[in-house]
Amino acid sequence: MRVVLSLGGSVLAPELDPERVSGHAAVIERLVEEGCELGAVVGGGGVARDYIGAARELGANEVQLDQIGIDVTRINARLLIAALGATVDPTPAHDYDEAGDAIRRGDVSVMGGVMPGQTTDAVAAALAEYIDADLLVYATSANGIYDADPNEDEEAVQFGELTPAELVEVIAPMSRDAGASAPVDLLAAKLIERSGMRTIVLDGTNPEVIEGAVLRGEHTGTDIVPSGGGEPTYWAQQ
Ligand code: UTP
Repeated sequence: MRVVLSLGGSVLAPELDPERVSGHAAVIERLVEEGCELGAVVGGGGVARDYIGAARELGANEVQLDQIGIDVTRINARLLIAALGATVDPTPAHDYDEAGDAIRRGDVSVMGGVMPGQTTDAVAAALAEYIDADLLVYATSANGIYDADPNEDEEAVQFGELTPAELVEVIAPMSRDAGASAPVDLLAAKLIERSGMRTIVLDGTNPEVIEGAVLRGEHTGTDIVPSGGGEPTYWAQQ
């Protein structure tokens, strides 16, 4: 089973805590032991936002700000690499070819951002399409997709299951509201729709939750199920 795991920066490194990073690395190693081929895409979290905020005040333009964000995602990728054992490619992949090559060699590939104008949500969706993954998992700080921001609106309702087209419909208005933060951005949603990728969005704070979702499809987040798409055959064998 080929899996792309998107680890938000706020999940992996809300503050610098080696134990948290090693907890996520341990789950990745167990997934590999269970036979998963794995690409991990790491976000920048609060550190990226802090750097971007400071550089914006200094007059940096949007592309320069994105470049700073990308650099922070790559530092977080190196942090995860540091916690992984011998089966990881020691260099963060700079593009999908490098990641695909490493995964084909049997290594775990870890990458951050690739180019300005997007976030690592889209990188994860593109990597999943590129390596023909069976499953894409977004480990975020929100437990799935809601009809409103659950941090702002107590009555926000979680979607248990959506088709990729419904995901785009739900995310599009959220992306238009300045300051609103959708757990998966619009470009990522469109890539998921284009590829028909089976996707899970969940709260990845506890890494064990990611393990259950990848190996058995067990989680309390949101399933994005392409129409006509069944479950990964791997789950039936568990
Ligand atoms: P993130 O993927 O962490 O963005 O990339 P985010 O959505 O703000 O973070 P979370 O999901 O809340 O943790 C950090 C920043 O890096 C730049 C963007 O500026 C992004 O906001 N970036 C990242 C790119 O420009 N291109 C990429 O491919 C990835």
